[in-house]
Amino acid sequence: MFIMLSLPLLLLVLTGHIGIVRSSCTSKLEKSLFDDLIGMMLKLKGTGHGVELRQNEIPAFTAYRNSVQTLSPTTIVKFDKLWMNNLNAYDVTTGVFTAPMPGLYHFAAVVMSESAKILFLNLWHNDTQMAGSYTNGDGHKTGTIDVVLSVKKGDRIYIKCRNNTTQKIYSNSDNYSTFSGYLIAK
Ligand SMILES: *[C@@H]1O[C@H](CO)[C@@H](O)[C@H](O)[C@H]1NC(C)=O
Ligand SMILES: *[C@@H]1O[C@H](CO)[C@@H](O)[C@H](O)[C@H]1NC(C)=O
Ligand SMILES: *[C@@H]1O[C@H](CO)[C@@H](O)[C@H](O)[C@H]1NC(C)=O
Ligand SMILES: *[C@@H]1O[C@H](CO)[C@@H](O)[C@H](O)[C@H]1NC(C)=O
Repeated sequence: MFIMLSLPLLLLVLTGHIGIVRSSCTSKLEKSLFDDLIGMMLKLKGTGHGVELRQNEIPAFTAYRNSVQTLSPTTIVKFDKLWMNNLNAYDVTTGVFTAPMPGLYHFAAVVMSESAKILFLNLWHNDTQMAGSYTNGDGHKTGTIDVVLSVKKGDRIYIKCRNNTTQKIYSNSDNYSTFSGYLIAK
């Protein structure tokens, strides 16, 4: 009888106690998680990662075409319109990005072919031919180039005609062909 009565009472006391322990544990845990997060954020700020730079201090561009460009065998593609060009490192008159500071950069391009025509292009790093894009077939095709490069100050990145015959990169007012690059880390 004593046991039957006191068990629920004991459980009540125990669960009440556990409840208190648990809630104080949770807030302690939350506090330490919060401290960890603050610590991580402070550490990130000190790594020299891009987060240290303000938006307009990070080399970053997106250039595009809204018209066709005819390319002779070694012509550089001119993405002649700009949505963004921090530090003016991309030159719309030549199609060349010149790195204003050394670092790790991401470059990407989307290039559309004329309907049913071959489009064969490469991304170049200075005088080194790198990633290629080749499209061939019915209708308009989009080729893509996507690289991460370690770049020195003054290095040139651009996209050039590969095919040794005349070809055309297609675009219209829908802005199908684009070229972007930005600094990931110094
Ligand atoms: C270059 O493009 C032309 C015209 O689109 C095509 O006939 C030819 O096969 C291409 N050459 C190469 C090497 O891709
Ligand atoms: C790339 O070319 C530029 C000149 O156009 C030069 O200043 C730079 O040192 C070259 N970079 C490499 C890695 O050769
Ligand atoms: C142009 O490409 C064709 C087809 O691949 C090839 O036979 C020819 O040798 C190339 N010409 C030059 C000058 O590279
Ligand atoms: C192409 O880009 C220009 C400039 O941002 C913009 O005004 C235009 O609406 C774009 N075209 C389309 C079809 O989105």
